[in-house]
Amino acid sequence: MPTVYRGTIVHTKSFNEFESFKEGFVAVEDGKIIGIGGDYDNWLSTSKINADLISEVRLSRFQFLSPGFCDGHIHAPQYAQIGLGMSVPLLDWLNTYTFPTEAKYVDKEFAQKIYRSVVEATLRCGTTLASYFATNNLESTLILAEEAARQGQRALIGKVCSNCNSPDFYVETTDESVRGTEAFVAAIRKLNNPLVLPTITPRFALSCSMELLQKLGNIAKQYDLHVQSHISENLTEIEVVRDIFKTSYANAYDDAGLLTKKTVMAHGVHLQDDEIALLKKRGTAIIHCPASNTNLNSGICDVQRLIKAGLTVGLGTDVSGGNSVSVLTALQRAIEVSKHLDFFKKQNILGTGRSETQDNDYQQLTYKQAFYLATLGGAKALALDHITGNFSVGKDFDALLVDVSVLEKPHRPLTVDELLEKFIYTGDDRNIKAVYVAGKLVKGTV
Ligand code: GUN
Ligand code: ZN
Repeated sequence: MPTVYRGTIVHTKSFNEFESFKEGFVAVEDGKIIGIGGDYDNWLSTSKINADLISEVRLSRFQFLSPGFCDGHIHAPQYAQIGLGMSVPLLDWLNTYTFPTEAKYVDKEFAQKIYRSVVEATLRCGTTLASYFATNNLESTLILAEEAARQGQRALIGKVCSNCNSPDFYVETTDESVRGTEAFVAAIRKLNNPLVLPTITPRFALSCSMELLQKLGNIAKQYDLHVQSHISENLTEIEVVRDIFKTSYANAYDDAGLLTKKTVMAHGVHLQDDEIALLKKRGTAIIHCPASNTNLNSGICDVQRLIKAGLTVGLGTDVSGGNSVSVLTALQRAIEVSKHLDFFKKQNILGTGRSETQDNDYQQLTYKQAFYLATLGGAKALALDHITGNFSVGKDFDALLVDVSVLEKPHRPLTVDELLEKFIYTGDDRNIKAVYVAGKLVKGTV
């Protein structure tokens, strides 16, 4: 039976194309979008659907329908340490906090508890699609996949691979890593859930030998799988990678065949122009992780530069380098970082009338562009935009019912743009009243 959602609808069609309908509709049947627009009566009369069979959800004047959020980069096991160790640089943070935490996931009960709560928390915050790093441990990584499937979240799940430059208590042999990955891919396929897919996950070039990277590249190619990793996040890390591989970070991955149209690389804070050109040539996307880049003192990622160069960019929370599981928070942080970068590029130094890094052409990320990164941009980066990311006919209905009046009623009516702007600048998970994945209500009520 079709359902039609009537009221304010917002979504994006590209980085600079925002579309909205004040008194619009989205029609859904069998989890898929069968209609969208501003003229419901006209659609109904041409659709040949019997109006008596349609169930209607009417949104109130402070509510709107948004595509679900896409978290392009999140470490599920690190939810156990979220908000801790936020002032050390990457490599110290990994050794002091993160590797000891991730090593605990040999304990299946612990894994079950944390993975259940991270999927619950991300869904509550409106993440309908997440690309998860798990740990080196195969069995508990499967628990994460099962938990996403049970709770109805769309997810890419990666068994993390690392065979060198890692502590003794958290490292694999090349063989263990490759066999574990193959077993993981086979087990996910056996789950036979269209929402949950495997993704090949070398942790980062620094903790994988070229032999391992190449073997992972071969598996990705053989089964046409997604790939995720980290790139150019921190200056010390980049130096070590150059020392080991004698080439740039992007080249190291490319030499292993890991840069594909289904690859996402997190961070990309310090990419060189030739590396950006290589990523573009391969169709590889960047996931911008503003909270983590700030917390771990990695640097400022110039997202506009990446987009200008033609890269696809999505947003990531990067929990727990990032301190929030909410993509909405990542979106707010992305706007702030972009504003700070703009100040840095344009402000005068002590009244000299110029800045040493002067760039008067820099454009701040607008809230609508950031909204694109959090929805369609992420879906595109993850090569799932034929299924999700906006309300195009034929895609799955992955959506949020947002209510900006939950905490306090606005004292005057708001335009469509104002509804979205208010949600972006003042909203949190309490404003997300319902979350749908493939047409199914997975959180909240209507
Ligand atoms: N690089 C390698 N591993 C990690 C990780 O867990 N978090 C972040 N932010 N960067 C990494
Ligand atoms: Zn990360």
